[in-house]
Amino acid sequence: MEQTPLVASILNATLLVVAILALIQGAHGIGIGVNYGTVANNLPPPAMVAKFLSKSTTIKKVRLFDANPEILRAFGNTGIEVTITVPNDQIPDITNLTYAQQWVKTNVQPFIPATKLIRILVGNEVLSTANKLLVSTLVPAMQTLHVALVAASLDDNIKISTPHSLGILSNSSPPSAAKFRQGYDTHVIKPMLNFLKDANAPFMVNPYPFFGCTSSSTLDYALFRSNSGVFVVDDNTKLRYTNMLDAQLDAVYSALKVLGFEDVEIVIAETGWPSVCDPAQVGVNPKTASEYNGNLIRHVTSGAGTPLMPNRTFDTYIFALFDENLKPGPSCERNFGLFWPNMTPVYNVPIIMRNNVAVVANSHYKVFLSIVIVLSLICTWV
Ligand SMILES: *[C@@H]1O[C@H](CO)[C@@H](O)[C@H](O)[C@H]1NC(C)=O
Ligand SMILES: *[C@@H]1O[C@H](CO)[C@@H](O)[C@H](O)[C@H]1NC(C)=O
Repeated sequence: MEQTPLVASILNATLLVVAILALIQGAHGIGIGVNYGTVANNLPPPAMVAKFLSKSTTIKKVRLFDANPEILRAFGNTGIEVTITVPNDQIPDITNLTYAQQWVKTNVQPFIPATKLIRILVGNEVLSTANKLLVSTLVPAMQTLHVALVAASLDDNIKISTPHSLGILSNSSPPSAAKFRQGYDTHVIKPMLNFLKDANAPFMVNPYPFFGCTSSSTLDYALFRSNSGVFVVDDNTKLRYTNMLDAQLDAVYSALKVLGFEDVEIVIAETGWPSVCDPAQVGVNPKTASEYNGNLIRHVTSGAGTPLMPNRTFDTYIFALFDENLKPGPSCERNFGLFWPNMTPVYNVPIIMRNNVAVVANSHYKVFLSIVIVLSLICTWV
């Protein structure tokens, strides 16, 4: 008889701990990421940006395309997770361990632990450059930088990866038939996947339904709007695709599976939708950009997963934080931003802002958990 109250209090104490942990988790909110590109001459000071993101938005992660020290310092003590990048032109140098160690000493060590650095990306879309030197030194550079992190005992907290465009797939339709491009598959991607798996690091991709949406007939599909999904049944699997992002992610998954690495985590390093474009492009305006980004966040964080990856959530970085007025190319390239330089939204994406429905829902959740905690305290000590 003496056992029962003991077991009950252990159970209640466990419940209490779980509830407290859930409360802490809940306070972190949605945890979406954003790409903080800086190819512009009108951007606000990094300190202002860091304060704005941490106080006024639900954004919890930023990715930089370099290792700008002012930005790294600005995110100190904000709790925001930061990813930095070794620019493509430094990849060959990073294969030299002395150089890699100096890189870590200069670009990482001065900023941690105040700045929560979680990843270093070696280049961006390197395979798409088709530059022989960069392609051949990419995996050795990732390995060498990892060795430098191990030597500094930083490899548990900081992971190495590199983002890919979907151009690395030779075929992506239907999703189940996707493969990596021949040549790259065994010579670069496979050794890279071996490395990522051993280091417990993710495979990172930049899927853009926007660039896959070339006519108005695919607009609903690209924007996660309800649609019949008739032309998107995968004949091999009989799975039905209701949005283009799922099809793109499942193509990546299928290609990984061909090489035997389907268990490596997939991170969405970039995705987004511009608010302004040249007249020929379909479905570009602030409303569709808002729809894409809002639906994207709900989808990747929902736990629905994709047809081939049910129940998964995807760490996702929206492109981009600001419009970048100095980017070359078509006008859409300069108009992917969520915010103007004065931090007002370019269009409304409620789920990104604090003090809105998402936060209200979050506070209901907290009230519920607080009641659970109080009840379990009563049960434990009565
Ligand atoms: C490796 O990097 C160090 C530091 O930058 C440099 O002094 C050295 O010459 C490099 N070694 C080679 C073989 O390039
Ligand atoms: C996904 O979640 C559902 C509902 O919780 C469950 O029935 C199903 O087995 C899960 N599937 C996988 C692959 O985990």
